[in-house]
Amino acid sequence: MHGTPSPSIVRRRSAVQRRFWSPVYDRFAGAYDAVDWFTGDYTHALRLHALDFLPAPPARVLEVGMGTGKLHVVLASRYNTAGLDLAPGMVRRTQRRLAQLGSRSALAVGTAYAIPWPSDAFDVVLSTFAFSAFVNAGVALDEMVRVTRPGGSVVIVDAGEALDGNYKAHLLARCWEAMGDFMRDEVPLMATRGLEAQRVDYGPWDCVHVTVGVVPERESV
Ligand SMILES: C[S@@+](CC[C@H](N)C(=O)[O-])C[C@H]1O[C@@H](n2cnc3c(N)ncnc32)[C@H](O)[C@@H]1O
Repeated sequence: MHGTPSPSIVRRRSAVQRRFWSPVYDRFAGAYDAVDWFTGDYTHALRLHALDFLPAPPARVLEVGMGTGKLHVVLASRYNTAGLDLAPGMVRRTQRRLAQLGSRSALAVGTAYAIPWPSDAFDVVLSTFAFSAFVNAGVALDEMVRVTRPGGSVVIVDAGEALDGNYKAHLLARCWEAMGDFMRDEVPLMATRGLEAQRVDYGPWDCVHVTVGVVPERESV
């Protein structure tokens, strides 16, 4: 796996996220779906793969960084859902998508660093292709764990290096980094929070992975 980025690289990517991606996600939320169109909905298939790692309904599911809501409407048709995104434009887009389908979900504009729901509110907290945009991954993960009930799970889908170290996934990871993202292996990060985590690589050259971490039960006193 690639090493931890230096403080100057973190500052630079943080600035790219704040000055470029945040306004883009807000003002051009509609254009984000062009990525799916451009890839013949392959990107959406990679996103939908997360469903295989969720429990059977009923369950309370929070999606963090749900973007335009393409996965969120599927979740809302099966689960009791909530969704959070930093970009108001993305939240509006998701709201519109839900309304078109007559579905409901509790949506909020806000940051993964201070999730606006109480502790233990969800059985599952899920995030697809957003965790790599979080500069403060530890803070975001702490918040995702806080709002997940003990025994529940945190499910993160993102791009990154493949476990087999193949060079195509390695090159793709460098491209994402050049665009301001942070390529991570969430397993050791989750382990530092006491989660038992497992990871499965998939997609082209295994450049996408899903990591499922189970939140430990609290010890009774
Ligand atoms: C690359 S998009 C992914 C969207 C969608 N989940 C998908 O699978 O395509 C990243 C999303 O994360 C959101 N985001 C970025 N930083 C965030 C933060 N700190 N808290 C919450 N959402 C954030 C962005 O606004 C954007 O909608």
